[in-house]
Amino acid sequence: MQKQVLVTGGLGYIGSHTIVELVQSGFAVVAVDNLSNSSRLVLDRIKRITGKEIDFYELDCSSEEHLRSVFEKHDFHGAIHFAALKSVEESMIYPEKYRFNNVFSTEVLQKLCVEFHVEKLVFSSSCTVYGTPEVNPVDENCILQPPASVYGETKQSCEKLLLASKGIKNLVILRYFNPIGAHPTGYLGEDSRVAPTNLVPILCEVALGKRDTFHVFGTDYDTPDGTCIRDYIHVCDLARAHVQSLLFNQTNALEIFNLGVGRGFSVKEILDVFQKVIGRTISITYSPRRVGDISAIWAVSNKAKLHLNWSCLFGAEHALEHAWNWVSKKDLES
Ligand code: NAD
Ligand code: WQD
Repeated sequence: MQKQVLVTGGLGYIGSHTIVELVQSGFAVVAVDNLSNSSRLVLDRIKRITGKEIDFYELDCSSEEHLRSVFEKHDFHGAIHFAALKSVEESMIYPEKYRFNNVFSTEVLQKLCVEFHVEKLVFSSSCTVYGTPEVNPVDENCILQPPASVYGETKQSCEKLLLASKGIKNLVILRYFNPIGAHPTGYLGEDSRVAPTNLVPILCEVALGKRDTFHVFGTDYDTPDGTCIRDYIHVCDLARAHVQSLLFNQTNALEIFNLGVGRGFSVKEILDVFQKVIGRTISITYSPRRVGDISAIWAVSNKAKLHLNWSCLFGAEHALEHAWNWVSKKDLES
């Protein structure tokens, strides 16, 4: 009998890649999404890769009534909670929208997981909870810093409320570093409704001619080449860590894992790899720092490697190649 898994925000970037891995690992997936940052096209893309249809409900996770009706129809072994708004900039303009959407939906889901005796809840957190780290690389014991954005505040609030919850049997908090890339088939990738603010989608838009130039935000950071350093992880490696989290037979009720590759790349390094992947140069403009950016952060992910029996299959070059493959194919379709 296949184990049923609820995936909230399942049609989004990381959720959809995770669904592919779950289906390919034999789980029966039930996805819910309010489509605020995704579309139903993602269901066809998942089917194209896996050959399987998944159950889908269009609903908002902040509606207890609507989410409860899904719990009543299914018998969930686990739930993975991706549903959230994720724009750092937007969260500063609409703080209450972010607090309500991200924190209240987590509260609703947590309550239902307890009531319906769901064995395992996996929560999407972020390296943003570490703020500006005093040292790199960052491990899970690093003290959390005051959040730099309302988005970051919502991730800290969700972690806190889940940690305080008594009824969840097995809770896994995954702190992602910088997810990039797309499915190697080229049939699935990042497809936000809102204009991108992250590095790789913007690079792709410049290479496609949709933007004139790529702005490097800041060249005077205290890093070897002066540009910011991040830990870029392939979205499919991230996705597999969710499957492993469900399979993981945890002895502690709570586990927190960093998910990164464990190596920092500067913006300039990523630019070099990207231009190599696409086989040409792109227009680059060296611009002032972006407000709110930290100089450098990268992860120690040894805990995830050890306990989740997980490691990254892809490096930055693969991730950029797959992202480029995805946007090039998608662009031809439209
Ligand atoms: P995404 O926007 O592509 O996916 C989120 C999905 O959730 C979207 O399909 C959206 O429509 C849906 N959604 C939002 N609010 C909802 C609600 N109230 N009810 C139902 N559906 C709702 O984002 P993503 O990049 O796939 O991120 C997934 C999760 O990972 C989020 O929790 C995000 O905060 C977290 N995260 C993302 C990154 C990143 O850089 N992408 C990094 C760290 C953590
Ligand atoms: C990466 C680097 C930019 C665009 C954000 C969130 C974080 C997490 C991941 C959710 C930075 C530089 C970017 C551009 C540039 N999300 N850059 N020119 O800011 O590390 O993290 O996404 O939890 O919480 O803050 O990611 O992709 O925006 O930027 O030079 O046009 O690329 O300055 O150094 P970031 P990013």
